[in-house]
Amino acid sequence: MKTIRDFDLKNKRVVIRCDFNVPLKEGKIMDDTRIKGALETIQYALSQQAKVVLLSHLGKVKEESDKKKNTLKPIARHLEEILGQKVLFIETTDFEEVKKQVSTLEDGEVCLLENTRFYDLEGNKESGNAESLARFYASLGDIFINDAFGTLHRSHASNVGIASFLPAGIGFLVEKEISSLASVFCPKKPFIVILGGAKVQDKIGVIEKFAPKCDKILIGGAMALTFLDAEGYAVGASKTEQESFAFCQKMLEQYPEKIVLPVDLGTTKVYEECTPVYKDITELELDDYALDIGPQTIKNFENQLKEAHTVLWNGPLGLYEFPSFQKGTKELLLYLKEKKDCIQTVVGGGDTVACAMENHVEDALYHLSTGGGATLKYLEEETLVGLEAIKRNESR
Ligand code: 3PG
Repeated sequence: MKTIRDFDLKNKRVVIRCDFNVPLKEGKIMDDTRIKGALETIQYALSQQAKVVLLSHLGKVKEESDKKKNTLKPIARHLEEILGQKVLFIETTDFEEVKKQVSTLEDGEVCLLENTRFYDLEGNKESGNAESLARFYASLGDIFINDAFGTLHRSHASNVGIASFLPAGIGFLVEKEISSLASVFCPKKPFIVILGGAKVQDKIGVIEKFAPKCDKILIGGAMALTFLDAEGYAVGASKTEQESFAFCQKMLEQYPEKIVLPVDLGTTKVYEECTPVYKDITELELDDYALDIGPQTIKNFENQLKEAHTVLWNGPLGLYEFPSFQKGTKELLLYLKEKKDCIQTVVGGGDTVACAMENHVEDALYHLSTGGGATLKYLEEETLVGLEAIKRNESR
């Protein structure tokens, strides 16, 4: 697939799709990993004396009032700081006005357009991949580079539509993501998959894909409760997904040796941050919420990981929002850090990555993906609509 290196960028207008969909609290950026992840591509284009036009979405924009909290203005200011040069922020979404402002860019200068999903207020043009919007984006550049890994599973105008109207390639972030994630397609064995997070439904594709080729699947998080419930354990007050029971039962029958479930859990009777009470899975009472894996489960999981060479991890093993229920996730991350010389760990998914960063284990892990849904989809299908759009462009 063509990458940004394959183009002569000098004096060209380069439209780069980034994924600046970062968590914000009252306009403050809570985690800038995705912005930092895009720097290499932006800096490279600027160093080649390109005029750089950045596109990104932020959150969902369904009504006029969503605009205020989803403006990219704070991202532009932050980018300016970490880039160390001016970033022209184009607030208007009026086509002619945007074009006029973009045309003021000199070689080696950069601008950021307002949230692409503001155009969803005009008949879902961005998320519906409207050709008129894709053509407008294309009119702002000579080359299109997609570096928005987290959005590659969306067929939107600013990442898929535009690729039909300009010479196109991928940026360094996307290149690194796909080559690092691909390491689990032909993994060095033993290969262990760790799955957590809320829902079995979100992980069905990944379980189906990796169960036949991995040695063990260690399951934690709320999704483990659905497996336990399907197996016949009483799981207390925690909600489980009845619609996934048949799938869980099928997997447990098909892979009884591979699927490893918790044997104890961190529980609470009040759904809030508090000291967990650890209980065996046979001891849960009706009013117990199980929000983390317990110490015996952590030990079991560590034992399974002892001989591993490759680990794929998606989703936290406890309720990440409450710090006392992060223990299972944290301990396993620290264990993987200790074993970093023997185990190649790939982590996909927001909360697990955030936990790795908070516990300073990121340098010990082989790859931390910047994607959420895109990572899961890529793991399931080994391609994404955004990548297919670039490939189609090449074969034209
Ligand atoms: C993400 O955060 O997973 C990507 O930015 C895609 O965002 P979306 O789920 O709102 O399309």
